Amino acid sequence: MKKFKIAEGVYMFTMNVEDILFEGIWEIANGVTLNSYIVQGDKTAIIDGVIGWDGVPETLYKNLEEIGIDPQDIDYLIVNHMEPDHSGWIENFRKVKDDFTVICTDRAAKMVSSFYGEDKIKVVKEGDTLDLGKGKVLSFYPVPNVHWPETMYTYEHDTKTLFSCDMFGVFGRMEEHCFDDELTSEEIEFFEFEGIRYYSNVMTTFTSSIRKAIEKAKTLEINIIAPGHGPVYRKNPQKIIDDYYRFSLYAEGAGKNEVTILWGSMYGMTARAVDFVEGILQREGVKYNKLEMPLESDSEMIATVFKSAGIIIAAPTYEYKLFPPVAAALNEIGRKRITNKLAFRFGSYGWSGGAERELHEIMERNKMKWDFIESVEFEGAPKEEDLKKIEAGVLELIEKMKEKVVEEITEEAVE
Ligand code: FEO
Repeated sequence: MKKFKIAEGVYMFTMNVEDILFEGIWEIANGVTLNSYIVQGDKTAIIDGVIGWDGVPETLYKNLEEIGIDPQDIDYLIVNHMEPDHSGWIENFRKVKDDFTVICTDRAAKMVSSFYGEDKIKVVKEGDTLDLGKGKVLSFYPVPNVHWPETMYTYEHDTKTLFSCDMFGVFGRMEEHCFDDELTSEEIEFFEFEGIRYYSNVMTTFTSSIRKAIEKAKTLEINIIAPGHGPVYRKNPQKIIDDYYRFSLYAEGAGKNEVTILWGSMYGMTARAVDFVEGILQREGVKYNKLEMPLESDSEMIATVFKSAGIIIAAPTYEYKLFPPVAAALNEIGRKRITNKLAFRFGSYGWSGGAERELHEIMERNKMKWDFIESVEFEGAPKEEDLKKIEAGVLELIEKMKEKVVEEITEEAVE
């Protein structure tokens, strides 16, 4: 665990967590940080927690002591979000100290009680304040469904710091650089993709609520954004706000200027057409990603499809339906409510079709509203005339996807 002073009387504790399935599902290739914050006036508040994964709360207590804070001096636990990656240590803390107060929304209060048996809870509403003394005043702003129903922001007035917990969070381990102004260009790029991974894996189902949380943040004068995962933004907090807005557009069909080929093949017939398509994309100078299912993790698959303006689905018929690993991937994308993508499908069949029917069932069932270029199905291996049709489909996709590309947030994009 590392610790930093982020402003006078405000400290961050952060630890990298790796080799876990986040939420028990997501195989996160580059880990994640858990951040916790201390605000110190005459009274001391700790905002969210960093222990629980390793089961070693003493790590936190030891680090507190190293910055001169006795765990016994903590008066308030601010629970911005109840998911146990942030709250999992509360039960242990109660064993160490008995006279502290949990501060959270009414929705969170029920959970704090049911998860940890807590009853010393102060419920806060929109705009309620807590004066810690020495100029440190906290205000609370519920931002429900980021991505649980009980979530809120905590805002510190003196330093104009927004403690946003999951909102504005990103995956990815942090090495030595924890502030936005310290990041190298490689680290900025790294965290941009890890932000996409985080948003698409964890947040995207709740995009309409995320937009409301973005609007709420805009009503506050912010010098620092201090999230529960990833770097602290003190030089340019607007960047992560704009990034989140851009990601919300990706959830609704926009994307980077790149194509993702989501594909699977039983005996190489569909794979031959995939090779052919790669040649076209290279010839046309289009950036592309290849995801062979079921070899990719769901985390990587969802993030990569999510960020792409054009999707090529290459999958054969299998037992009268769509090749199951590709069908499973599309179902997962549908559950995440990633809508309005531009797509083109082709694939082989042996003796009868069926893949196309299931593809449309998946789209309908999940209300995905994807915009499809006419599919190409071929019997056995792709023949010359099949490849011509596939080439026409790919070229149409490349042309149409120009309307979907959003690489940065401009006023036009916001409208
Ligand atoms: Fe970082 Fe929703 O937990």
